[in-house]
Amino acid sequence: MNKFSKIGFVLAMAGSAVGLGNAWKFPTMVGNNGGSAFIVLYLVLTFGIAFVAFLAELSIGKLGETDPVHSLYKLAPKHKKQWSLAGFFMIGAVLIASFYMVVIGWIVKYIYISFSSLPSDTTQSGAIFESLLFSEALNSILCFTLVFIIVFYVVSKGIKSGIERLNVWMMPTLFILLLVMFFYSLSMGDGFLKAVSFLFVPDFSKITPEIVLQALGLAFFSLSMGVCVVPTYAASLPDGTNLVKSTLSIIFINILIGIMMGLVVFTFVFAYSGDTTQGGPGLIFVSLTTLFAKLGVAGNVLAVAFFTSLLFAGITSAVSMIEPFAFYLINKFGFTRKKALVMIAVFVYILGIFCVLSYYKPTSENFVFFNKPFFDVLDYLTSNIIMPLAAITFSIFVGFVLKKEGLFILFSTFMSKNLFEIWYFMLRFVVPVAVFAIMLYQILK
Ligand code: PHE
Repeated sequence: MNKFSKIGFVLAMAGSAVGLGNAWKFPTMVGNNGGSAFIVLYLVLTFGIAFVAFLAELSIGKLGETDPVHSLYKLAPKHKKQWSLAGFFMIGAVLIASFYMVVIGWIVKYIYISFSSLPSDTTQSGAIFESLLFSEALNSILCFTLVFIIVFYVVSKGIKSGIERLNVWMMPTLFILLLVMFFYSLSMGDGFLKAVSFLFVPDFSKITPEIVLQALGLAFFSLSMGVCVVPTYAASLPDGTNLVKSTLSIIFINILIGIMMGLVVFTFVFAYSGDTTQGGPGLIFVSLTTLFAKLGVAGNVLAVAFFTSLLFAGITSAVSMIEPFAFYLINKFGFTRKKALVMIAVFVYILGIFCVLSYYKPTSENFVFFNKPFFDVLDYLTSNIIMPLAAITFSIFVGFVLKKEGLFILFSTFMSKNLFEIWYFMLRFVVPVAVFAIMLYQILK
């Protein structure tokens, strides 16, 4: 059987979770929204809600043991066809892959820049980033194509010799690179201490209802939930895997890497009095590169290490976005893995090019939908509509449609009866309401 090994599953799932989101979403949100107060909030939501829903997604994959559409079909006692349609939320993963790989492409370009001379001030650095986005479509497409080839090549090798193998060396390497950066940051004394206080000094006054909803959205995105990645990987779980312990390890790795990234990034920002309010890609691509430039050759080395760790984080997430739909096409139409992947690849490639062209000045006007560049439309549609809708559907399916006894048998070896009852209650009544609240907030804001 083409199944993960136990450690392979944890690494692959953690590889999916740890991604570009950890590099800029998590650190900037922590820094700007109350430091450790936000971290406490994020932990409460991660364990109280995301963890509960994650176990539900896992159980669909583990009990169904096939792709999400067929698993739902198999497990639903009635209305099989209708329930199986929820499996098509996996298309969300393919849509995310299209713009996500464009961003990984920018990272490739920055690895290249890191080998030569880094921009020495933010004006110059901002100009490089803007030029890549708005005027160098060909470069963006080239880098995107390279990432695209790597990702599809890995998925073409399958779960065990492709996805597991990639994660088993990329995740530890990513961690070592990050450790090197972390120790370097430690040696920067003052900057490191300021970063620690920026990230950890709690300010509970910053926690508003809006921040609560944002934190919940981040918890879902960052654990790769709602687009069928979790049930797909869970279908290849080896028997006897402790579902609860594995999930906790995945969550732990995800948070640890987010915090380490945050400490590294903000140490540099503070050591060179950079701008902490600059968030998102600007923080990484614009501020950080100029800060590295101040260190001479050591800066080049650190920049290569940093962008390579981001590249690895991105690639291991991107492969997880392609697998669900590929698995479905193979099961449904009896396609070979190659044929299924060629079909998905054509689709992803075209959408990816559209994303690039929607930023490229000469063509951007033709790629505006609902007043947004196509790139942003895909981002909005997936994070704010598809992911939460799917999370609600899956928690209702597992909480109300699946038989409670079957779930208890699945989980009884890993949790006590009381814990199971708490989980089951949260799944039925807390998760759907909480996620519905985020969704409404995202749409109405
Ligand atoms: N969790 C990934 C990140 O933080 C993104 C992702 C979303 C991956 C959905 C797979 C599916 O970057």
